[in-house]
Amino acid sequence: MCSEALISPALDWPAVRDLPLRLGILASGNGSNFAAIAQAIDQGQLCAQIQGVIYNNPQARVAQRAAERGLPSVLINHRDFGGRETFDATVAATLRGWDVDWVIMAGWMRCATPVLLDAFPGHILNIHPSLLPSFPGLHAVEQALRAGVTITGCTVHIVTLAVDQGPIIAQAAVPIFGGDTPDTLARRIHTQEHQLYPWAIALAAGRA
Ligand code: GAR
Repeated sequence: MCSEALISPALDWPAVRDLPLRLGILASGNGSNFAAIAQAIDQGQLCAQIQGVIYNNPQARVAQRAAERGLPSVLINHRDFGGRETFDATVAATLRGWDVDWVIMAGWMRCATPVLLDAFPGHILNIHPSLLPSFPGLHAVEQALRAGVTITGCTVHIVTLAVDQGPIIAQAAVPIFGGDTPDTLARRIHTQEHQLYPWAIALAAGRA
């Protein structure tokens, strides 16, 4: 009998004893990972507060999700900038203005330049829908299906200049079933992401 997730970390949460982490969220689209992080905070599992959300696509649903929670969100549209560095400089300045200590890429479909990386050295996390180092880059779910592997999953890692190659913080594995489509598989990976990401934030910050 197959279960939804073959391997998951033992999600042992620490007793809340420290000052809350101050998180800045970067998201390009739906924002379900943002919502999962916010929920883990609400439930007292992750000792953190979300200082604000930056999104780069005007239609991104994450903006609505942030508004529903009364959290500030700012559209910084990369199309309005002459280059990736000037875009990242504005993103970094906004995050600094919120006094964040961890930057959380939650479905942020932009590659970080040194401008952003140097503003928060070692303190930028990303979630990717595969077991890195397998299937980096775009369309990771489709890549896994095409490759015919029977297990994929999701990875939380520190962001570095080399895309999807930074130090791995945590992973969860998800089995691929015979009739899986990109949609059904992505849905099961999302379920794991929502559990993994809040806990991996605590782990990266030395709080788990
Ligand atoms: C997530 O599956 C995340 O792993 C992926 O985008 C999705 C965002 O979903 N990220 C990447 O592919 C980054 N390379 P969400 O907007 O519902 O959180």
